[in-house]
Amino acid sequence: MTVHIGAKPGEIAETVLMPGDPYRAKWAAENFLEDAVLVNEVRGMLGFTGTYKGNRVSIQGSGMGMPSFSIYANELIRDYGAKTLIRIGSCGGMQDKVKIRDVIVAMTATTLNSPSSGIFKELNFAPCADWSLLKAAVAAAEAKNVPPHVGGIYSSDVFYDERPDLNEQMTRHGILGVEMEAAELYNLAARHGVRGLAVLTVSDHLLTGEALPSEDREKTFGDMVEIALDAAFA
Ligand code: HPA
Repeated sequence: MTVHIGAKPGEIAETVLMPGDPYRAKWAAENFLEDAVLVNEVRGMLGFTGTYKGNRVSIQGSGMGMPSFSIYANELIRDYGAKTLIRIGSCGGMQDKVKIRDVIVAMTATTLNSPSSGIFKELNFAPCADWSLLKAAVAAAEAKNVPPHVGGIYSSDVFYDERPDLNEQMTRHGILGVEMEAAELYNLAARHGVRGLAVLTVSDHLLTGEALPSEDREKTFGDMVEIALDAAFA
């Protein structure tokens, strides 16, 4: 047990998928894992462990934003021995070529600030994905006929952003989408020598104002779960 995770030692797998929403963790565990059991419900941040094609895997909610994500990822890595962490989540599209429902595999994650900024101080560390996972996720997506966008994303600290000029700069620099967690995953993965990747689906669009109707979200979310699982065990 840790401060925020109630699982007993050994109850969490070395491979962990991390959606922001704890109910997405439940939905993914029920629909994609065999023999899934609830291993955490502290603060309602549900976590499950089961198997996928015979491989042991956990799905643990992270909450929204880098501070919340960082708490769960730190405890999973430091206390439960997680070695592969894949964020599965939604993002806002930032390029015309990126459409609603598209999948993005995040090569890098730009931030203004993250829980790791205090360590890096004046350094602009470049948080990047694990290459083996990135390559495997692209192959898994292509095999499902879901060709992904691969490139940089923006991990923001604010959903209700009062600085739209930052989004404009991101779009101008080719950033594919905005979400709120991946940069801290990549920082922690680098620090602890584990594998990190973010696979995202575009749920809304900053340039067009479109948003994915909620009844459509399960199908696109399901593709993303399978891409993450196939990449983890490639
Ligand atoms: N901003 C930040 N995070 C997000 C967004 C967004 O527009 N959409 C999904 N996650």
